Amino acid sequence: MTDSITIALSKGRILKETLPLLKEAGIELLDDIDNSRKLVFPTTDPSVRILIIRATDVPTYVQYGGADLGVTGKDVLMEHGGDGLYEPLDLNIARCRLMTAGPVGKPAPQGRLRVATKFVNLARRHYASQGRQADIIKLYGAMELAPILGLADEIVDIVDTGNTLKANGLEARALIDHISTRLVVNRASMKMKHSQLHPIIEKMGQAVERQRQADAAII
Ligand code: ATP
Ligand code: PRP
Repeated sequence: MTDSITIALSKGRILKETLPLLKEAGIELLDDIDNSRKLVFPTTDPSVRILIIRATDVPTYVQYGGADLGVTGKDVLMEHGGDGLYEPLDLNIARCRLMTAGPVGKPAPQGRLRVATKFVNLARRHYASQGRQADIIKLYGAMELAPILGLADEIVDIVDTGNTLKANGLEARALIDHISTRLVVNRASMKMKHSQLHPIIEKMGQAVERQRQADAAII
């Protein structure tokens, strides 16, 4: 008997780059997701269904077994903590950096800092590892506004081109980590549904490798 498999995908910027990798594993959405209000989608593999949810909810769904597999950013996984999850594959998409940043020409003050971010756990860990005392202010977006409006001395956020920082008079400071999109697996599913999950992970891994080689050939 084949168990059903549920895969949680992040909506937003990761989604469009994730679908071709799943296709290589023989899994394609049957519906036009751009014109649907559904949250659960059937696929070309009758035993596989796909959830499309917020990136930050993916580790939670996979941790508690609501989904067997998930795709989300390493930043989201580090913030979540990774309990109950295996992380077998770096999908090598949405590559960026997690950094601290502050106003150009206004170095962080000595002593206690105020830091605005949506990554509160990560930020707390980072400043503690530097021996800096930091009050962390939780925001849900537009972190770059916080130093401009005097809410915070620094922010912790994603940096890719650096354009968003530059456009808001900020500069990148410390690199916390390199980030890319990861495939995660529920620990219990990995044991109980291994014969079904293993080929999906294997084929996605091969697709990532092919893409990596194609990218290297262009450079
Ligand atoms: P949520 O909707 O849950 O708040 P989000 O708005 O951060 O999530 P996206 O903007 O779609 O979701 O980002 C998804 C992931 O893409 C992030 O977790 C990060 O790993 C990566 N990412 C975010 N910004 C960039 C960027 N500018 N360039 C490349 N990758 C990025
Ligand atoms: C992300 C991130 C930064 C920006 C960095 O925001 O939060 O603001 O990208 O990219 P850059 O260095 O290339 O400018 P996003 O565009 O996802 O918007 P969001 O604030 O809605 O997450």
